[in-house]
Amino acid sequence: MRTNWRPTPGFAFGGDYNPEQWPRDVWAEDIRLMQEAKVNLVTVGVFSWGLLEVADGVWDFTWLDDILGMLHEGGIAVDLATPTASPPMWLYDKHPEILPVNREGLRSHPGARLQWCPSSAIWRTYATRAAAMLGQRYATHPAVRMWHVSNELGQANRQCFCPESAAAFQRWLAARYGTIEAVNEAWGTAFWGHHYTGFAQIGAPLNAESALNPALVLDFARFSSDALLDHFRAEKRELLDAGVTVPITTNLMVGVAPSVADYASWVDDLDLIANDHYTIAADPRRERDLAFAADRCRGLAAGQPWFLMEHSTGAVNWQVRNRAKAPGELTRNSLAHVARGAEGALFFQWRASRAGSEQWHSAMVPHAGRDTRIWREVVDLGGILDRIGEVAGSVVPTGQVVVIVDDVAGWAWEPPSKPLNDYPLHRIARRWRDAWNDLGVTCDVVPTTADLTAHRIIVVPGLYLVDDATATAITDAAHNGATVVITHLSGIVNEVDTVRLGGYPGAFRNLLGVRAEEFLPLQHHEQVTLDNGYTATDWAESLIIENAEVVARYTGAPLEGRPAITRRAVGSGTAWYVSTDLSEGSIHLLAQHLAGASSASADLPAVPGVEAVRRVRDGQSWLFLLNHTDQDQRVPAAGVDLVSGRTVSGSIELAAGGVAVVREG
Ligand code: GLA
Repeated sequence: MRTNWRPTPGFAFGGDYNPEQWPRDVWAEDIRLMQEAKVNLVTVGVFSWGLLEVADGVWDFTWLDDILGMLHEGGIAVDLATPTASPPMWLYDKHPEILPVNREGLRSHPGARLQWCPSSAIWRTYATRAAAMLGQRYATHPAVRMWHVSNELGQANRQCFCPESAAAFQRWLAARYGTIEAVNEAWGTAFWGHHYTGFAQIGAPLNAESALNPALVLDFARFSSDALLDHFRAEKRELLDAGVTVPITTNLMVGVAPSVADYASWVDDLDLIANDHYTIAADPRRERDLAFAADRCRGLAAGQPWFLMEHSTGAVNWQVRNRAKAPGELTRNSLAHVARGAEGALFFQWRASRAGSEQWHSAMVPHAGRDTRIWREVVDLGGILDRIGEVAGSVVPTGQVVVIVDDVAGWAWEPPSKPLNDYPLHRIARRWRDAWNDLGVTCDVVPTTADLTAHRIIVVPGLYLVDDATATAITDAAHNGATVVITHLSGIVNEVDTVRLGGYPGAFRNLLGVRAEEFLPLQHHEQVTLDNGYTATDWAESLIIENAEVVARYTGAPLEGRPAITRRAVGSGTAWYVSTDLSEGSIHLLAQHLAGASSASADLPAVPGVEAVRRVRDGQSWLFLLNHTDQDQRVPAAGVDLVSGRTVSGSIELAAGGVAVVREG
């Protein structure tokens, strides 16, 4: 990753710009409107391959040359995309074998996007040639300040099950395990007698009428992530060979649920972490989902600034009921990302399409044009980002608390035949993050590869799969003084999805001094109450104490009086175990207790419904305050609010839905 690099002097503001969808007379108006809104960066060319390479090997760069020139003249920087997210029709005519095959064994058809198999050699040849052509033409173009490889790799082609992918999977397995015996051992293929005698017998995990070996499914997910990363690397190499010196990245899709790829393993190849995030209409607490995703991005970026590549000004078009954002919501959403380390706010897309499958997706310039609420809010946001420009390049200070989230652990939990098969594992992490947020304690959300030495409290929420190195790092952190909180469904299987024997949670049993002999998954209507008043749903365990204190016990059958929450002093730290799925309120109470016990104090104002985040640089700090409620709120703060220009002494009155960015001091 590159640190201290920004495509624009202050925060970046803009979005995906698809001029190819519009006649040229609109382009001039686009530039004028961009200037009016203070747009300073646009992503160009994402889906334009078919309009650039008009026939095999025949390129027409005229329109792209022209628009890049116009943007440059207009003072707008460009994030130039390689166009490989949408191959041209002539390529499908020539090579239909590049189309991906789904888990039902059906090959997809041209007409959408990302319709390519990441392991296809033919595809790779054409895609890298396209990247090279773009790189050679525009490597030194003065408008081009960063490169955007393809688009949302894996969004529609996460896993391809074609014979070429299966062969690549076999090679991947041979490289990872060495011998077929090692694969048999790792996957436990004695089960159902699925012993393999050669790599050629291992196919892609196509759908079957009963459950597949989860270790096979997991390794195929890892392989598929690697195949996509390999594609990214191949395109990036072409750009570097062509002389590109500005950062090269691709837009990830980091959210709450496990990602399509193991992004933690992609980080070293990305010059900066860039994310696309869309709120979900049906989620009444959308802003928390956003905050979680943004914190995860900062975690992937190891605390450094990252980039919000896409979000929406209003409704998307791909949910069941696509909700228009409320007045002010686009500004709150943008600033929430910025507060959590994003170096600006970009949208999909600049001008709402008239035609095509995204004609009902919101944009910065709506169908109704300039005299619209959305346009006015876009212009306002451009002004705010400009006024808070001094904050760019600062970071969110390392949190006292860290929550660990791992995509691969999420994948391991996904295949069926689990104790609970409708239980979203990442919900545990989100609840814990929310609790720290509500207490005003800065909390980081990090992958398992993160450095854990700087945090007072380490939460390990539902980390179902844990490798030995991670388990050791967490254990060491406790010995070295951290308060470690392990929740149910953590440390259950090892990296090849084999249960760690001897009592759950196998990876942390010794650290915790407890051993669960049996899981007791609950039905939807069931709730448990602990003897300290905490409540929980979904999950309970019969726990045996070996060397720990009991903090709270289950009440009522069948676990009456049995331990539910435990604590053990280890080295200079403490290890807690929470064996049940605590309600949000109970997690809040427990987090409050843990904060007190570990001297982790609130470092942010904690006003219900007001999101507070601090960014810092060189002794200067800026406090972002976002009022998500429909009431005015008074929040402690002191300094100058860069949004309104007002001096703030002691506290600030935030209007319902309002925002402030206070330069403190
Ligand atoms: C993703 C894609 C964009 C667009 C939006 C719509 O983020 O990258 O091209 O399709 O979704 O929400």
